[in-house]
Order: sequence, then structure tokens, then C-alpha cells
Amino acid sequence: MVVAVDGLAGAGKSTVARAVAAALGCPYLDTGAFYRAVTLAVVRAGADAASEQAVLQVTAAACLDYAAGAMLLDGEDVSEAVRTPEVGALVSAVSAFPEVRRLVVERQRDWVEEHGGRVVVEGRDIGTVVFPEAAVKVFLTASAAARARRRVADAEAAGQTLQDVEDHLRARDHADSTRAASPLRSAADAVTIDTTDLTVAQVVAVILGLIAEAEGDAGR
Ligand code: DC
Repeated sequence: MVVAVDGLAGAGKSTVARAVAAALGCPYLDTGAFYRAVTLAVVRAGADAASEQAVLQVTAAACLDYAAGAMLLDGEDVSEAVRTPEVGALVSAVSAFPEVRRLVVERQRDWVEEHGGRVVVEGRDIGTVVFPEAAVKVFLTASAAARARRRVADAEAAGQTLQDVEDHLRARDHADSTRAASPLRSAADAVTIDTTDLTVAQVVAVILGLIAEAEGDAGR
């Protein structure tokens, strides 16, 4: 059973998806980390991030894996390296290339199969494209101000203001929502949860309730 957790940048997807996976005792997959790892590989190769051919070549040559919560690029743990502002600034453009997405999605589907199919998967297009048959689909939103506040602790350390963070989140959501290939949007059958005024525990409880319901339906 796949649990798809999609939503806006900074809406709490990672924290919530990890907690749901821990409660279920099943693996968790961060699909955004795959696009970030491809972007890092492009930067390291000195390739042109604006050229689909160049990015595709780097993607095809990259070995992408996710193990024990760590993103692996050619066997190297790049979990921290993919979180730099440089990668963050380029990842929306890199992840907009349809052929690049095709390769990355194929790898993500293989990963879920390799891990037994009972997995919590976090991303932007999981319920719409990667696993349209997912048993449970949620779409997390929150106000831009709340999302910026959650991100600001890390960003302040990097010299950014609250407004900088909010502007960056809005720009990334706009880019991800308006691209032609698999844009960020809620699946028609996803349950939207506005996390602005909810704690992590409350959001997790809602999702665990949806999972129990889906498993009850499947068992009937
Ligand atoms: O979740 P994140 O911020 O690490 O994702 C980084 C970028 O990757 C995001 O701006 C859009 C892209 N992405 C995507 O296109 N599809 C996904 N399933 C996950 C992320």
C-alpha cells in the first residue's frame, strides 16, 4: 500500500511523512531528494542546467538511491549537499524537464517495488503521476507566512530574512505548479490538509486515520 504525501514547499511534508512511516513501521521515500541529487550532479559536472539534453545525460549516468533516510548519489551520502541554496535555486528548472522526470520516476517506482510496496512516499506528483493508484493520498498546504516561519531557522543561519524565505517558497511553488510536465497539484481524490494551525502530531493522526479507513475498506 502506497501512502502519497504531496503538497506545497514547507507545508510539513517531510516531517509528517517520516512520522507516518515510523508509526506504520514501513519505509519512507523523499522523492524531492532525487531531483535535488540530479541537480547536484549537474552542478558538479559543470553541465548547463538550462539544457534538457545536458541534464538528461547527467541523469542517465547517475546512480540514485535512498537508504535509511539518506540520499545516495553514486553511492555517496549527499543528504546535506543537496540542501544548499545553489541546489535549491536550480532544482525547479531541472525537475521541469519531462525526459528527466521520466527517468527519475522510473527509479522511484523501482525503489518502492524493491521495498515491498508498503511505503510512505513524499513529493509533488505522487498521487497524480507516480502512484495514481495509491491507497491513501494527502495534499498538505499551509499559509505562505506559516511555511516561511517553519523554514526560517535554517535560512537565518544562511543570512536570509523571513521575507526572503517566503518569496523563495512562493517562487518555487509557482515554478512547480506552472510547469508543463507533472505540475504540482492535488489529485482529485486526495484529502487536502491545511497544516497552518495544526501540530505535526495532529496532521499525523489525520493521516493514520485515513490509512486505517483505507485498510478497513480493503479488508471488507
Ligand atoms: O521537496 P523538495 O523541496 O526537496 O523538492 C525539491 C524540488 O523537486 C521541488 O521544488 C520540485 C521538485 N520535485 C518534483 O518536481 N517532484 C517531486 N515528486 C518532488 C520534488
